[in-house]
Amino acid sequence: MSFPQGFLWGAAASSYQIEGAAFEDGKGLSVWDMLCRRPGAVWSGHTGEVADDHYHRYREDVALMKEIGLKAYRFSISWPRVIPAGTGAVNPAGLDFYDRLVDELLAAGIEPWITLFHWDYPYELFCRGGWLNPYSSDWFADYTAVVVRRLSDRVRHWMTLNEPQCFIGLGHLEGVHAPGLKLDWPEVLRGWHNSLLAHGKAVAAIRAHSKTAAVIGAAPTGFIAHPASDSPADIEAARRATFTVHERTLWNHHMFYDPVYKKEYPPEAAAVFGKAMPQIGPRDMDIIGQPIDFTALNYYQGMAVRAGEDGRPAVVPPPVGAPLTLFHWHVMPQGLYWGPKFLYERYGKPIYVTENGCSGMDWVALDGRVHDPARIDFTRRYLRELGRAIADGVDVRGYFHWSILDNFEWAEGYKHRFGLVYVDYATQKRILKDSAYWYREVIASNGANL
Ligand code: FCB
Repeated sequence: MSFPQGFLWGAAASSYQIEGAAFEDGKGLSVWDMLCRRPGAVWSGHTGEVADDHYHRYREDVALMKEIGLKAYRFSISWPRVIPAGTGAVNPAGLDFYDRLVDELLAAGIEPWITLFHWDYPYELFCRGGWLNPYSSDWFADYTAVVVRRLSDRVRHWMTLNEPQCFIGLGHLEGVHAPGLKLDWPEVLRGWHNSLLAHGKAVAAIRAHSKTAAVIGAAPTGFIAHPASDSPADIEAARRATFTVHERTLWNHHMFYDPVYKKEYPPEAAAVFGKAMPQIGPRDMDIIGQPIDFTALNYYQGMAVRAGEDGRPAVVPPPVGAPLTLFHWHVMPQGLYWGPKFLYERYGKPIYVTENGCSGMDWVALDGRVHDPARIDFTRRYLRELGRAIADGVDVRGYFHWSILDNFEWAEGYKHRFGLVYVDYATQKRILKDSAYWYREVIASNGANL
């Protein structure tokens, strides 16, 4: 298996999941600080107050990244750490932290890839209507400008939003993520539309303020279907299933990427959502459709699909006993072939896999090490599929493993361990898992050992 020269091997994490220091150095509250205090909202009452204490231990963590040989590290900025009320006064100590982190990464030879928003929305803005407020996209653009002005002399790679499918869908419709609302579709889609506007305005803000040539994307997620067989009919069924809004759900890529790349919502969305569709202002689609540079994909599990008797895609349920991760997500490596392929066909931009990984119940063995053969096998299978996509001509430029460290897995608390590096939350001791040593070989051999 060979990966292109210069393929970007990375790993990822996000601010609330690792930083801790939730109430330190002038940081404002986020909606995750709010949700975590609600009884029953998070498994076992866990919170991200301390998490991996990365805010204080980032030097040690960057040294571990260097030891693994990462070429790039994807992390997010906590908006309320930088602007405590979400808009207005900047907190210098907050910006300084990211400044130091960027310098530390660069000194270690690791390229910083920044996500501007990975769900820790400023509480004060939530109290003003959050993503439903018509000014929400301007707030985000202003915050983006502050960050970009400070860091863009050293940072070139930016992602605006992480997975609006989750912070709007799980956060505003299903109520299981912050801010924990269960709204109806008209409000949900209004929030969705505002977050698309926020994306577009942030892209414009990055271009306007960047001191270097910025490379910009966003990191949505969604349903990726793969064909149950190699037959052209099944392949077409998978393609159609991937790019059809078949029911009222946000769980697909093209509700995000069609507006971004084609300046229109998927044509079938209006039929599915009816009167719940958001009002679209005359300039909105131009704002949303600012040119971006790459298509990012966060992929964990997919769905096998075949051409049904009536010609429509039909889901093929996984066989009884099919492999599952601790999250009970199916192990479906095929999506790292078909996902990049379908997205590349439709939008034609270079692809980066910005998240992929395996949750497990790793622990420290009697020999003092952390053995995680399932994560190694999982990642090997997924990366082989990605390599196959590249061999077939899909322009895939990088892969970020989720995650560098075990961390706070949102409503699941610390139950799930996704890290290449084990974290003992009681002592904050870090231990490289077997998968970290294995990934180091993958990187060193540029994928030849897969
Ligand atoms: C993604 C999130 C990330 C992490 C992984 C497991 O949806 O972006 O923060 O929780 O899932």
